Amino acid sequence: MATEEHQRLANIIKSCHESLRQLTKEHGAAAAWQEHTSPHNASRLAEYAKAMRQLAAIWETNNENVELQARSRIKWAIDYITKYFFTEGIYLQKRQREQRLLESYKTEGQLGNVECQWMEEPPDRLRVLDVGSCFNPFASTPHLEVTALDLCPATADVLQADFLKVEVEPGLEEPELVEGSVRRLPAKHYECVIFSLLLEYMPSAEQRLECCRKAYNLLLPEGILVIVHPDSQHVGKNAHLMKNWRYSLAKLGLLRVRFEKLPHISCMVFRKAISRDLSQHWASIHREEGMCEAIRIPQDDN
Ligand SMILES: C[S@@+](CC[C@H](N)C(=O)[O-])C[C@H]1O[C@@H](n2cnc3c(N)ncnc32)[C@H](O)[C@@H]1O
Repeated sequence: MATEEHQRLANIIKSCHESLRQLTKEHGAAAAWQEHTSPHNASRLAEYAKAMRQLAAIWETNNENVELQARSRIKWAIDYITKYFFTEGIYLQKRQREQRLLESYKTEGQLGNVECQWMEEPPDRLRVLDVGSCFNPFASTPHLEVTALDLCPATADVLQADFLKVEVEPGLEEPELVEGSVRRLPAKHYECVIFSLLLEYMPSAEQRLECCRKAYNLLLPEGILVIVHPDSQHVGKNAHLMKNWRYSLAKLGLLRVRFEKLPHISCMVFRKAISRDLSQHWASIHREEGMCEAIRIPQDDN
């Protein structure tokens, strides 16, 4: 049962999303986004950031409620990242799978360059980019070196950035800031990019796809994109949308390696394949009627 405080915080979040959706209906996604992120909306974004931080603290600490505990998306992400790079070496299993797929697809034509990243082992501290971080929930994880970004940071260790406007640049060593905001990020630099409750914030399928395209360019080969998406329905309800996400991300070069439905969220991991052609070939083979390159969510139809 939600407490009054929980409800109050949830209403702040909901009304901010609703107002952006309403603006989108009236003016289209690009103009709505411009308006939403303009300085005169700053106090609303700050109110949202504060509420989100408080709400997340309630979710994370409510140990008596099993359902809320299962919603611990932060723990889920850290556990998978640890298994993938260290304890279970999942990156090696996935590399071998892709190598086998490459062999089997070779008869169907040439598949371009192959890039494997860790010939020895991944580094002890992984470079992680947490986009839409709000309050830097991954900051205290010892084996993660986190760069956290948000439209409106809730804490001082989060950099201000509109990820849709940030450029991805080869050859940079670290994020480049102009007047306190991130302007450019280094390409092929991160072992992991995290979108936790980020994509559905943006009002259009194209903007969400653009975020995934950027993640591909930011990741090292065999790096992973972790996506946590709110979903209170049973697993079959949005299965067609999730299949379309899988197809769209494969077209970008990101193959899905994990999908887990928990109460209220879906947790997914996509890996930058050792060959983009391989990933795109997989997508073309698995394309089903009606699939298109877009990251759609149920609210798009309302
Ligand atoms: C629902 S909150 C999620 C916060 C945190 N990641 C978590 O899991 O608790 C979504 C966050 O994404 C941020 N955000 C949305 N679009 C963004 C963009 N284009 N660039 C940077 N941050 C963005 C919002 O400001 C907000 O703080």
